[in-house]
Amino acid sequence: MYKIAVIPGDGTGPEVVNEGLKVLDAVSKKLNFEYTIKLFKYGGEHYRKTGELLPDYAFDEFRTFDCIYLGAVGDPKVKPGILEKGLLLNLRFGFEQYINLRPVKLYPGVWTPIKDKGPEDIDFVVIRENNEGLYVGEGEFQNKGTKDEIALQVSRNTRKGVERCIRYAFEYTRKRNKRKKLTLCGKTNVLTYAWDLWERTFNEVAKEYKDIKTDYTHVDATCMWMVKNPEWFDVIVTDNMFGDIITDLGAMIQGGMGIAAGGNINPEGISMFEPIGGSAPKYTGKNVINPLAAICALQMILEHLGEAKGAAMIENSVMKVTSEKLKSLSAGKMGYSTSEVGDLVIKFLK
Ligand code: IPM
Ligand code: MN
Repeated sequence: MYKIAVIPGDGTGPEVVNEGLKVLDAVSKKLNFEYTIKLFKYGGEHYRKTGELLPDYAFDEFRTFDCIYLGAVGDPKVKPGILEKGLLLNLRFGFEQYINLRPVKLYPGVWTPIKDKGPEDIDFVVIRENNEGLYVGEGEFQNKGTKDEIALQVSRNTRKGVERCIRYAFEYTRKRNKRKKLTLCGKTNVLTYAWDLWERTFNEVAKEYKDIKTDYTHVDATCMWMVKNPEWFDVIVTDNMFGDIITDLGAMIQGGMGIAAGGNINPEGISMFEPIGGSAPKYTGKNVINPLAAICALQMILEHLGEAKGAAMIENSVMKVTSEKLKSLSAGKMGYSTSEVGDLVIKFLK
């Protein structure tokens, strides 16, 4: 019996999560597994009403679940940074979800802005370190408000943090068993402390994985190759900030925010899965947003729980929907409503 904590969150989060849960229900019936869910109301609206972001007792309660399914956080009525820090980053850090796993896979029938590239070219995974780097919020102002002001923003990289992420990436590349190639994406030519540590650690760990080919690209060049020759990549491992940036580029080349999902993973603890597109306030309540990213996040949940069959079922069905049904992945242009897309995924489950 799986226990899933659900935070539908803000904006279109609840609508897309609802479709994910419909799919979960259908898959569980087909494969005869059982689960319970509990809905948590955290998010922008709850914060505006109560001033509460994520109380300590919520953390304790989440600990009793197998994983967390998150819709979206982001509310235009709340000052930027508050929900991001208080909810999303708080969960990532609090549960030591030190891996951010983001598949970049172009499904058949999906439009990509990259001319002459297709599903056989765009199929890689970005493993983003999720607990360190610039995201630790270390730094200070000096001479604030004066003409001599200085703002320091520290990127913190620990040997332990870097090594566990790199090890995960090697293991993942081996398990994925595709091209067996792991690319380190960094900036060794300028950020000579952080990327010295990353590169040394990468090269040391690589010695234990002789079956995995390795290479290195600077982050700026990575962006270039992702557009020019995406087929070169199998698995990319990088730090928190670079990973944030290149996975938005990745989402665009795989068809946009309507399809991109990610996992915040603690391999020994509580992991959290989410569509990475945000709360899309202007589409809220209109039944036009694309739920496939949330459904793909659910697919990652099943994979994580060891329900590989269910995960494959969902992915195959999503591919059928993208290749045979949807006109576009963009909100309002799919040719179907949010709930109809959910229904189609269920219809094609096999
Ligand atoms: C993401 C988002 C978050 C991040 C924001 C909302 C804090 O952009 O999940 O990529 O920067 O990690
Ligand atoms: Mn981002």
